[in-house]
Formats: sequence, C-alpha cells, structure tokens
Amino acid sequence: MNRKVSVAPMMDCTDRHERFFLRLISKNTLLYTEMVVSEAIHRGDKKKLLEFNINEKPVALQIGGSSPNLLAEATKAGEDFGYDEINLNLGCPSKKVEKNKFGACLMKEPNLVADCLSKMQSVTKLPVTIKTRIGYDDTEDYENLHNFISILKNTGIKTFIIHARKAILGKFTPKQNLNIPPLKYDFVYKLKKDFPNEEIIINGGITSTEEMKDHLKKVDGVMIGRSAYHTPYILAEIEKQIFNNEDVPSRQDIMEQLLPYIRDEIKKGTRLNQIMRHTLGLFHGQTGSSFWKRYLTENMCVRDADVKKIDHIMDKIKFNNVDTSVGQSA
Ligand SMILES: Cc1cc2nc3c(=O)[nH]c(=O)nc-3n(C[C@H](O)[C@H](O)[C@H](O)COP(=O)(O)O)c2cc1C
Repeated sequence: MNRKVSVAPMMDCTDRHERFFLRLISKNTLLYTEMVVSEAIHRGDKKKLLEFNINEKPVALQIGGSSPNLLAEATKAGEDFGYDEINLNLGCPSKKVEKNKFGACLMKEPNLVADCLSKMQSVTKLPVTIKTRIGYDDTEDYENLHNFISILKNTGIKTFIIHARKAILGKFTPKQNLNIPPLKYDFVYKLKKDFPNEEIIINGGITSTEEMKDHLKKVDGVMIGRSAYHTPYILAEIEKQIFNNEDVPSRQDIMEQLLPYIRDEIKKGTRLNQIMRHTLGLFHGQTGSSFWKRYLTENMCVRDADVKKIDHIMDKIKFNNVDTSVGQSA
C-alpha cells in the first residue's frame, strides 16, 4: 500500500461523497474514512455505516473503541466491505470520546491497546495501523511515546501515523486541540530513526508540497487533513510534485466527472448539499472562487434539487463565472 501521501480521517468531512470527489483529483493518495465507532458497527446498520463506492479505493477504515472483541468484529466487517486497511483511532481528544474510552485517552493504557490490536490482527489479513498523538496532558516526553510505540509494535503493527502535537484531555475543545498544542515534528523524525523498519507517517499542519517533500526526506509518508478539505485541488499538485503524475484533471474536468455521480446519488435519495458542500474549496485561489462558494451556498440546500437543477447550477458556473484559464495551481 502506498502511504506516501494520505488524506486524514475527519468527522463530518471525509464521508463517502468527499472521498469520491477527492479520488477524481488524485489517483495515488490513500483516503481515510471518518472515525466509525466499533459499538455502532456492532449495533447499527453496517451497510449505512460502511458501504462505499469502489472507485474511492484505496480506502482505509478508521475505527474507534477499546473493546478487543468489538474492535475485532468491526475489523472483520471492514474487511468484508472491501476496505484496504483498518486504522485504530488513538488520537481523538473529545470529552465524549474520553468518556467512552477511546481515542487519545487510550495512550494511558498501552497494554489494553496492545490487546485490541492483537485481536484485530488475528481476524484480518488487512494491514492494521494506528493514528495517535505525541503525548497527552503533561505527558509529553519522547521516552513515553517511544515506549508506547514499542508496546504496539510488539503486536505486529507496522504502520504508525503520528499527529505531531499532544492532546489536552478534558480541558480543550477538539478544535483547540487541533491548533493550540505546538507541533513537534522532531518527535516523529526521532521515531523514524529509532524504528527504521517501521512505517512512520507524519501528520499535523502540513499545507504545501514543498513541506511534504521535506518531511518525506525524514519519514515514510505524510498525512494531510484540513488543507485537503479546504483546498482539495492541492491533491492535483501532489499528483504532479510527489507522484510525478502530470496527467491531472482540471477543476472543470472534475466537476464534469462528478456530475454523473451526483445524478446517480440524487436518484438514490442523497441531497445535493451532502455532495456539493465538499466542493466549496475547489476553486480556491482562482478568479470566480467567491462566486462558486456563494452560488453553491445559496443553491445547494434547495429541497427540490433534482438533476435538472444541478445541470442548471453547473451551466451557470461553467460558462459565466469561473475563469478556468488562469492556471491550474492549487
Ligand atoms: C473536522 C475534523 C474532524 C476530525 N476527525 C478525526 C477523526 O475522526 N479521526 C481522527 O483520527 N482524527 C480526526 N481529526 C484530526 C485529523 O485527522 C488530523 O490529525 C488533524 O486535522 C491534523 O492534521 P491537519 O493539520 O493536516 O489538519 C479531525 C480533524 C478535523 C479538522
């Protein structure tokens, strides 16, 4: 599996529509789902929670939980639905998550995490990976992180995704936890030095292909979250600069290719804004971008949106207001 560049799991963002859209821009990046709680997979509608379009592949399913049995069941379900990797969330800091004992608070319980990972790996042939932080609260020494990773590595885990900032549990909101604790990339570089045979992926605050190239000199892969969501066309730049693939579609091509998908989804009962909200940033930095955003915001929530309406929206955008001749850069 190529994990040189991946798009991070993000709740309310990386749903199946976003992933379908991003895959039109980039063939080579690995895409992650939003976190799906193992308990929900156990009790809920598996098809609704896990089904995805085969064109999104490769896709990794991120799960959250701390019960080895439930996580194993979720892992098996993920394999059955066709995912390419199962990732365990050990980095989410929200209060709700902590109360239910999953996410970053599990960094306090490496042996429990090891039990979970062993059980998960015992039921699947897929790679099982983890995503974590460099520390939590006052525990932010490299030794502790090293020890945590060593314990998990002993279960057979080979890929570690590290969000290079600690989590402050209980005190900060999830949003503050994405911005306030400082990024410490050195911790991640040091992990790669100390675990040269393991795959170490760096995450947090990476917004340009230049930065990616620098990180890739020191670690095996980079994961980007918000920059992919807010400026999705950065994936075209990644195709060119990181994967040496010049054959990237224009922004207009992407929208043209998205249209049949939208038509199909609308017929199945999907609402227009469930798809189009992910495209708001497509024309970021281009002439007409603010028109695109405004027009979509005003039109995508209409209740009676049908295929005709979408065609009308597309025509209006295509022929009048977005100047596609001004370069392709992200
Ligand atoms: C809206 C949003 C939702 C997120 N949801 C998840 C999640 O479900 N699982 C997870 O491991 N991280 C989640 N994260 C954290 C991201 O995966 C990533 O680690 C973080 O945004 C830092 O990367 P960035 O600076 O490139 O955005 C979320 C972040 C955002 C902004």
